[in-house]
Amino acid sequence: MSPFHVTRTLPEDATDAALRADVHRGLTGRPKTLPPKWFYDAHGSDLFEKITELPEYYPTRAEREILLARAGDIAAATRARTLVELGSGSSEKTRHLIDALTDLRTYVPVDVSGSALSQAGQALAAERPGLDVHALIADFTGELTLPDTQGPRLVAFLGGTIGNLLPAERAAFLASVRALLAPGDALLLGTDLVKDEEVLVRAYDDGAGVTAAFNKNVLTVINRELGADFDPAAFDHVALWDAGHEWIEMRLRSRTAQTVKVPALGLAVDFAAGEEMRTEVSAKFRQEGVRTELSAAGLELAHWWTDDAGRFALSLSVAR
Ligand SMILES: C[S@@+](CC[C@H](N)C(=O)[O-])C[C@H]1O[C@@H](n2cnc3c(N)ncnc32)[C@H](O)[C@@H]1O
Repeated sequence: MSPFHVTRTLPEDATDAALRADVHRGLTGRPKTLPPKWFYDAHGSDLFEKITELPEYYPTRAEREILLARAGDIAAATRARTLVELGSGSSEKTRHLIDALTDLRTYVPVDVSGSALSQAGQALAAERPGLDVHALIADFTGELTLPDTQGPRLVAFLGGTIGNLLPAERAAFLASVRALLAPGDALLLGTDLVKDEEVLVRAYDDGAGVTAAFNKNVLTVINRELGADFDPAAFDHVALWDAGHEWIEMRLRSRTAQTVKVPALGLAVDFAAGEEMRTEVSAKFRQEGVRTELSAAGLELAHWWTDDAGRFALSLSVAR
């Protein structure tokens, strides 16, 4: 068994304070919003894993196809000794990359979900003797302090998770990733691509209702953590394509006029019948847009790979 460490870079009460601030801002704003990172308690992380297996949810399969085909190219281009993965979740697809990176010494999975990190980290440390697994419970939108490990460093951000950030948040995030890279380091970025609206909407509104349960899980998290009295059955899951922004938006629509109490914040929040609260955006990309956003952050696109059907892209970029 290899070494496995978990480091929490934020104290427990900082997570609590961030949740309170986000929920207060989101429920008192117009329109109401909640940020997607709060989906991922242990149950939410399990639901996300179920989503990745749904017939409608193509991104995970498409990205795995690219990783399987290109892991050798990525290894040759980067010769990484440290792999840092942001929003690593189950690290399931990452195994293909880890297997191909023959010089790899240390894997640093970073996630807000402590349960996903410890499950994945322990399994990897047991499966890969010689690999030092140093998990970090941290918010990748904040300032990241990475362990001092050997370069070259490859930072991976898979799953299309970058699409969950709004454009200004993406710019700030990419600039902070750029600041983590020394000469010879690289960023491997997974981006879901613009495609037929029907295919996109079905990926976020599956027939079995798993994505609906995932969306409503944020209400359960707020009930548990902040003593709120959201009734998840009083909200409908909504997924729609915003063609102007080229993103999928997930919302929760109040079935009736209702008031929800959030005692920890001293709030009583009125919802009108039919009122919609945004819980996630999932932006879809085109190659030129990705190149431009990387370039604005001081990164240069070096490789662009897609799956055979052209649904999803992996790009490798380096600091300019
Ligand atoms: C869409 S899932 C992708 C998981 C995995 N990378 C994949 O490709 O299947 C997003 C992951 O990012 C994590 N996450 C979301 N927001 C985060 C944040 N602000 N900081 C750190 N992790 C975050 C979630 O817990 C979850 O594991």
